[in-house]
Amino acid sequence: YGDKMKNIIIVATGGTIAGSGKVGKATNYQAGKINIKEIIDSIPMINEVANLKAIQLFNVDSNEMNEEHWIILANKINDLASQKNVDGIVVTHGTDTLDETAYFLNLTINTYKPVVLTGAMRPASATSADGPINLYQAVCLASCDDALGHGVMAVFSSTIYSGRDIQKISNFKTDAFDQKDFGCLGYMNDDKVMMFSRTFKKHTLQSVFSEKPITELPPVGIVYYYAGAKPDILTMMAQNHRGIVIIGSGSGNYSQAWLNEIETLAAKGIIFVRASRVNQGIVYESDVFDPHNVCIPSNTLSGQKARVLLMLALSVTQNTKEIKRIFNEY
Ligand code: SIN
Repeated sequence: YGDKMKNIIIVATGGTIAGSGKVGKATNYQAGKINIKEIIDSIPMINEVANLKAIQLFNVDSNEMNEEHWIILANKINDLASQKNVDGIVVTHGTDTLDETAYFLNLTINTYKPVVLTGAMRPASATSADGPINLYQAVCLASCDDALGHGVMAVFSSTIYSGRDIQKISNFKTDAFDQKDFGCLGYMNDDKVMMFSRTFKKHTLQSVFSEKPITELPPVGIVYYYAGAKPDILTMMAQNHRGIVIIGSGSGNYSQAWLNEIETLAAKGIIFVRASRVNQGIVYESDVFDPHNVCIPSNTLSGQKARVLLMLALSVTQNTKEIKRIFNEY
């Protein structure tokens, strides 16, 4: 390691950034095929930004990621971040479930050092692959003092997002992410970092879930409401899940038949969170759809992020009021 440049570790997990297909083509490829060293070697100037070390932790399509991968990844990052000579960490990841991993890490990583996720929409073998520029800028962000204390972040298309709020909004374009109504944390101007906002929600060092290593997560499922949906799906889900996140219509809504079944199952100890299938806005408490206050509103969290928080919350408490407080704070 040199004297001035920061020491950044790249933890590779796979995804389209490591994807390979017919040379020049952007679709019909396999994610998680190329080694991180090969990707780094394809990026001009990256070794002038920081002293890099790469760890190939997994090499999977992010649809293969699960709770065990999250726990291994969080432990690995916490271990690396605790080392004095490590200044920042970059994680390469598939874009499909990156929002979930980013939020899980945001809640479980115990460091003020920058942790930055990135990936790509086009495989490494495509014309104008977006992975190299995204990885280059993620390394620049992880090396920058302005990135300290923002929690886990992600960089895509020269835009910096928070791990809490990032969501995938296009399954096709390279500019595939946004941060709901909250814009973004900042922008990248080539290698320069320009931060503009900060989240008020707890993360990393302030997070109760980062205090000790997570070893397992309780089962929490997600059910999606649509016009005419029968409540049996709730009954089935409750058989082997401690918590259920409902992706309701509008502001976390559903039919009277669903409300009846939710109240029956809540009385048996199932913890419910109401989220929404609408990806902007907020889910509040509702006297109409939750008249006896058995559900926890997701606030601005998507269903899949609400599931991450409910799993972590259920690992520290079973109390609905306490979980409601957690949902307001995180
Ligand atoms: C994946 O999520 O691993 C595949 C899709 C992508 O990275 O864009």
